[in-house]
Amino acid sequence: MKLENQLLKKIAETYGTPTYVYNLDLIKSKYNYFKAAFPWPDLRICYAMKANYNTAILNTMKSLGAFIDAVSPGDLSLALKCGFKPSQIIYTANNMKDAEVDVVMKTGVLMNIGSLSRLEKYAKKYPGTRVCIRFNPDVVDGEHDKIKTGGDLTKFGILLEDTDQVIRITKEHNLKVIGLHEHTGSGLIKSDSILAAMKNMMSIAKKTNFPDLEFMDFGGGFKIPYSPDEQPIDYKTMGHDIVSLFSNFCDAYGKKLGLYFEPGKFLTAQAGHLLVEVNTIKNNRQRAICGTDSGFPQLIRPMFYDAYHHIDNLSNPDGEKIRYDICGNICETGDLFARDRLVNKIREGDLLSINDAGAYCYSMGGFYNLRPMPAEVVVEKTKIRLSRKRLTPDELIALILKESHDMLPVL
Ligand code: LLP
Repeated sequence: MKLENQLLKKIAETYGTPTYVYNLDLIKSKYNYFKAAFPWPDLRICYAMKANYNTAILNTMKSLGAFIDAVSPGDLSLALKCGFKPSQIIYTANNMKDAEVDVVMKTGVLMNIGSLSRLEKYAKKYPGTRVCIRFNPDVVDGEHDKIKTGGDLTKFGILLEDTDQVIRITKEHNLKVIGLHEHTGSGLIKSDSILAAMKNMMSIAKKTNFPDLEFMDFGGGFKIPYSPDEQPIDYKTMGHDIVSLFSNFCDAYGKKLGLYFEPGKFLTAQAGHLLVEVNTIKNNRQRAICGTDSGFPQLIRPMFYDAYHHIDNLSNPDGEKIRYDICGNICETGDLFARDRLVNKIREGDLLSINDAGAYCYSMGGFYNLRPMPAEVVVEKTKIRLSRKRLTPDELIALILKESHDMLPVL
């Protein structure tokens, strides 16, 4: 299932670098593992497409029967164009403008609302409609401070103590609350945080007792082991605990509700590689510095979250291990993929694979320093194909000029 180094090397040689490679077979097996871990009749796996919106991945998700967690009009439009039906999408945006709400409502997609002020405005404009309410689970967890979503220091969801206001607004405007939602954070580290968040949501469900309630959505956050020191979490065991907690709750509640999750990272992270080429080696006193042809606008997690991404030297897999700072080609000191990392001896011209780059890597990318994003290649069984091309610098500039109102002088 793992893509062999030789194959990655061949892809880099064929399509050039920088190039993202996605292993669709691994995505399928992660999806099937997740599904099997939560045996529940109305289980919905709403893929958090913010993790990776590559269209081959979206098509794979569709073929597997996934639903979609969309967070912007762009997400929504792409999901619909990929053939997801409005009934297969839940829309969870932040700080929406009125116009954004109207766009979503026109598509018939279910709106998930996470603030009292938006709920009030929504209720006035769309009385009597079906809606999902996002609560802040009051549980703090996640693999970095920037991606913890629970607790009162974050902007997400309605506080549990504001439940009475939710009841008042929804009653006044006859809203049909069909779903209750929470998302605790990304890369949940503590084994019991999902259960703790679920229990808080269950007390909200009991307190509100919305007559139209159909499902509870407990978000994403399922962790993967990025560094070799980390053990994978056994989601089969955790799934068993979650399903039995939910089953007992549904019995007491008197209704078999749908159980929804929104995994992103868990489904796609390990299936992705960013392939780069080394073009500079510098020995700065004690520090070996390796310069590559990609940079943080193309894979920002190490710089932004101090995230660990394992790096393999595809060209010298048996070489002696040496410590390197592995850098990008951007004019910033922090432009590093790894600091002080042991990698098989790197020479100029070597090809490196930055692993576990299938979630929040391409999708968080940009054009800083006006370098185009990498190409994207997908592998499925024995088939390898280009999914999205790498723009040339001239194509990128042509795009920018097309949108620009200030003409360049004619030379
Ligand atoms: N549902 C909601 C409402 C979310 O906000 C998120 C992620 C997810 C589901 C999916 O979470 P996941 O299963 O992927 O952990 N850029 C960060 C992660 C940010 C996640 C934002 N929200 C990273 O690279 O680690």
